[in-house]
Amino acid sequence: MPISVNGQQHAFAGDPRTTLLDFLRRECGLTGTKKGCDHGQCGACTVLVNGQRINSCLSLAVMHDADEVTTIEGIGAAGSRSPLQDAFVRHDGYQCGYCTPGQICSATAMLGEIDAGWPSFVSEDLEAAPALNDQEVRERMSGNLCRCAAYSNIVAAILDVAGESA
Ligand code: FES
Ligand code: FES
Repeated sequence: MPISVNGQQHAFAGDPRTTLLDFLRRECGLTGTKKGCDHGQCGACTVLVNGQRINSCLSLAVMHDADEVTTIEGIGAAGSRSPLQDAFVRHDGYQCGYCTPGQICSATAMLGEIDAGWPSFVSEDLEAAPALNDQEVRERMSGNLCRCAAYSNIVAAILDVAGESA
């Protein structure tokens, strides 16, 4: 069964109980995706599946036949960083960095959700285009915890990439 990860086909024929997170880290060798809680609570394992963000610890690899999975390694690398990765560096949006791959994958998809007009819990008008402000970003990124509490700088980095100021 092939799973496309960052544009490369990876065969999966392992234990059907293997999570997508463990498949990525153990079988694909892509250790950028982190295991924080392994219970869907922290967001450290966030990856994109067909462009949408998911917690890879809550999804089985066997469910992703023919899906396009993107991990932090597929978003950018040293020397070819994505705009969000650059902004995290510029705004000092991390301390230990453990949550950072998940934050960047999540923010990448989140900006697409705003572009697509998806409202959030704090959107005042469900019909209007969502505002891009501190409150919206904090709500939309609330599934990604940072134990170092670099939240202010993470929000500033995201708003910077979106062309807004914190
Ligand atoms: Fe998946 Fe924490 S490791 S949400
Ligand atoms: Fe350390 Fe977020 S930078 S957990």
